[in-house]
Amino acid sequence: MTQPKDESKSRTGQDGATDPNDLPSMSVLMLDWYDSHRRRLPWRSDPGVAADPYHVWLSEIMLQQTTVATVGPYFRDFLEKWPSVMDMAAADLDDILHAWAGLGYYARARNLHKCARVVAEEHDGVFPDTEEGLIALPGIGRYTASAVAAIAFGRRAVVVDGNVERVMARLFDIDVPLPVSKPELTDLADSCTPDERAGDYAQSVMDLGATICTPRSPKCTICPVISLCKGRDRAADLPRKMPKKVKPTRIGTAFWVERPDGAILFRRRPEKGLLGGMMEVPSTEWKDRATLATDENGAPDPPVPLKSEKNMPGIVRHTFTHFHLELTLVKGLVAGMPDPGPSGRWVMPDQMGDLALPTVMKKVVELALSSVGR
Ligand code: ADE
Repeated sequence: MTQPKDESKSRTGQDGATDPNDLPSMSVLMLDWYDSHRRRLPWRSDPGVAADPYHVWLSEIMLQQTTVATVGPYFRDFLEKWPSVMDMAAADLDDILHAWAGLGYYARARNLHKCARVVAEEHDGVFPDTEEGLIALPGIGRYTASAVAAIAFGRRAVVVDGNVERVMARLFDIDVPLPVSKPELTDLADSCTPDERAGDYAQSVMDLGATICTPRSPKCTICPVISLCKGRDRAADLPRKMPKKVKPTRIGTAFWVERPDGAILFRRRPEKGLLGGMMEVPSTEWKDRATLATDENGAPDPPVPLKSEKNMPGIVRHTFTHFHLELTLVKGLVAGMPDPGPSGRWVMPDQMGDLALPTVMKKVVELALSSVGR
């Protein structure tokens, strides 16, 4: 596949014939545009200055599934707490999880820590500078390896994220829906990637996707590659997508268990699985509403024996990647000072802020605290 050339700027030779090698390519137009329109982002180095691989890696991990606007303050906070990969390697996992709270997908935070340790212990604190070397590290997949190799080390790597897929689908007017079209879009991205300045080029396409070639209402009139775009007459309809599966709803009961001295019971979730290793307000298993309807429907089992219990008003709703969750809250009182169990911990209300709580559990705490007084 050859990359599109700018037809609006065709030049003719003395014999009147067009020399295709004279035409600006996608990457030439994009790099020109990037040089004058690049976004200033906290993890980006100044033009012409080599990027810090630690900064690039950290930002790319944070930016997976999270917006640029959300990541900014977290990125600055992490760098203040852990200015180098060696500092992060020496950090406590709990402190990292705590600082990560709100970014979601906590497996990324544990892998961040694991990766920092591998870089510190096995690579003397220096990130590998090739895609193959990077992809061997914990938490680094194909996308991140290519992004870090290109942005931090100037390697020619084909960086494909959602922005790039959208831009390619429009540029080449690809009718096949995602995700079926992924391999084709990757090939097209490869055909557009330059040998030089691959990192700037990758970021230029990300910026184009974020500011001009946006999912809805693309601003084609100010697009630097409009002259190359085969899908410009129907850009907003591309890329086509397979119909989304409807997310199921799971339900459960969270127990707000209080000791006579006011301490509340928290529990650490198992290392593996959703929200692995994070603290939670203990809850029953989260079951599909459909399954529950056919289950025995007795009262849910509390995490420790309760002296008394009553339902709290309200429901906590949270949406994960693959399901919606609805938690009802039960307030329980215990007699005496029961053992919290191996993964449990009693926490006084003024110390709850120190816990690394995932967003769904922050919602539980908020609802519980707002209704205990009632
Ligand atoms: N999204 C993911 N990586 C990015 C980057 N380096 N710049 C802008 N947006 C991004």
